[in-house]
Amino acid sequence: MQDRNLALEVVRITEAAALASARLMGRGDRKLADHVAVEAMRRAFDHMDIRGTVVIGEGERDEAPMLFIGEQVGAGWKDSADSPKVDIAVDPLEGTNLCATGAPDAISVIAIADDGQFLNAPDTYMQKIAVGPEARGVIDLRESPTWNLQRIAKAKGKKVEDCTCVILDRDRHADLIGEVRQAGARIRLIGDGDVSGAVMTCNADSGIDVLFGTGGAPEGVIAAAALKCIGGDFQGRLRWRSDEEKARGKRMGIKDEDAIYMMDELAKGNVMFAATGVTKGYLLDGVRFYGESAKTSSIVMRSKSGTVRVIEATHHFNTKPRYSWATGLEG
Ligand code: FBP
Repeated sequence: MQDRNLALEVVRITEAAALASARLMGRGDRKLADHVAVEAMRRAFDHMDIRGTVVIGEGERDEAPMLFIGEQVGAGWKDSADSPKVDIAVDPLEGTNLCATGAPDAISVIAIADDGQFLNAPDTYMQKIAVGPEARGVIDLRESPTWNLQRIAKAKGKKVEDCTCVILDRDRHADLIGEVRQAGARIRLIGDGDVSGAVMTCNADSGIDVLFGTGGAPEGVIAAAALKCIGGDFQGRLRWRSDEEKARGKRMGIKDEDAIYMMDELAKGNVMFAATGVTKGYLLDGVRFYGESAKTSSIVMRSKSGTVRVIEATHHFNTKPRYSWATGLEG
């Protein structure tokens, strides 16, 4: 990837998706909120001078009309053979239910890597552990949550009782939650959004020390890209729900079904990450609407420099079209 901070450009795309979906906050329609985010993101890519290929997206070509795996995005495919060729991982609305109910931490997110550098994660589950920079190198997914908590607490110079874990509130996590409680750590159960949950571990103000649990595999690759940029740590193991998923994984290049992937295997080389808040959360502020304008809060980072930028933007609807959720048309 050339030395152009694409994440600074790509944040305009996550902003567009966040602005579109935030209009639907609390309307109880997660599919529509997702749909407008996908459309806005897809459209915004047309203005970016890259030759991008979606490797993590809305699903296979026959399942998703836009931002499907393998779709080529960016103006560079038409205009310029010189524009950078990159792989793109997108989640236009991460936390569709969070947006539909107005709950915290729905975000719009994109990660970028050089050609072939992301794990082509099939749409299955992934068991994950994520920590911030202070606990980098001390985690091990093969070990128990208690073992990991003790190591994380030691690395951070605190007691296990003072550590807070973020865990998706799912029945499949009953044993995990029981063990963490037994170990004495605090828990923040989240309804959805384990990309935000993973990134929060790198923000001391969030009070979150570790993310444990099983969530989407594509989200795991995106979280690994983010944590690589901030200097945190992440490990993941695919958790298959059916033989069909395993077969699909094989077709996508997964050789070892039970492998534990380190952060650098999920997101290799130079990676960039941008996210914009849709609903106000622990990670980012959500979109705020004011008559003829709206404000967004985003985070932009890249692994090469380790720079983390927080970008507050004001968007004026008299100069920028306002997305209408009702008609699907700009106006
Ligand atoms: P959506 O944005 O598709 O609604 O997914 C949100 C999410 O909570 C992810 O953050 C998480 O990885 C995954 O769903 C968990 O899947 P499940 O809801 O099946 O437990």
